Amino acid sequence: MSLIPTVLDSIAKVRQTREQQIIQGKIAGLVPTMGAIHQGHLSLIETALKDCDFVYVSIFVNPSQFSPTEDLDRYPRTLEADLEKIQKLNTLDNIFVFVPTVSDIYPNGIPLQVSAQTGAFVQVIGLSEQLEGSTRPHFFRGVATVVSKFFNIVSPNFAYFGQKDIQQCIVIKKLVSDLFFNLQIKIVPTARDPVDGLALSSRNVYLTPKQRKHAPAVYRGLHKANTLFEHKKSASRSELIKCVLNSVEKEGSEHFQFDYICVSDKSSLLELDHVNESGAIISCAWKMGTTRLIDNIVLGAQI
Ligand code: PAF
Repeated sequence: MSLIPTVLDSIAKVRQTREQQIIQGKIAGLVPTMGAIHQGHLSLIETALKDCDFVYVSIFVNPSQFSPTEDLDRYPRTLEADLEKIQKLNTLDNIFVFVPTVSDIYPNGIPLQVSAQTGAFVQVIGLSEQLEGSTRPHFFRGVATVVSKFFNIVSPNFAYFGQKDIQQCIVIKKLVSDLFFNLQIKIVPTARDPVDGLALSSRNVYLTPKQRKHAPAVYRGLHKANTLFEHKKSASRSELIKCVLNSVEKEGSEHFQFDYICVSDKSSLLELDHVNESGAIISCAWKMGTTRLIDNIVLGAQI
């Protein structure tokens, strides 16, 4: 039987709940989300449930990762539907959903203009400016700040993030190691369509049927690049990128407008001309019409 998860709507309630569990030696996992729960989030929660006695899912649309030109107000807020989805996994009544208010998390207020913000913010310099950070310079500062706050509120043993947002995973791993947060980051493989491998994303619903049909060509290309690397344990950037471009060309390049296809080092995110047995990340962002998608593959040992 599944049960409606307990909703904790204040920092004090989370702290009280977690303190009791810590006294009893219970392990907790944190799954931070902005709501609009989909299969990707559910697979993070499922993984956390396997490792932990208790799982905390935070649902908080974090203003500091939006810029003034991005539409924070239009971000979907679907708490009832989210709770129903989470409920299906709550068979042992061990899931808590933390739903703080903006003023709980940002007591000084949170104007979207970075120059108008006051108080403490967290920046992971060197990993936040490239790839996704090049079009959203404020984004990882907002993510690193809110995630640090959640780590301090929940005191989890583990925190779970999806590989689909690979730069976010790398930024947060660095945050945890540089600021000595006492927890371990777990990266969960990207949830994909079982038939064609398209990475699951809440944005996929905006694709027209034609775009949806073309979209998996990028993943097929990433997969080919991985096969090439696995065969030789070495590859040049241009050969790897060619795998993606060839796959997209077969589908019709006109359907894809790439922001980037990058081959990067797994910890520094610096671009690599050549990949050796240590591997690399190939990450892509592209538009199909007005919908922007991202995907990546890790060559060699997983991050
Ligand atoms: O990946 C997300 O949904 C957000 O960036 C996160 C980690 C919940 C922080 O707001």
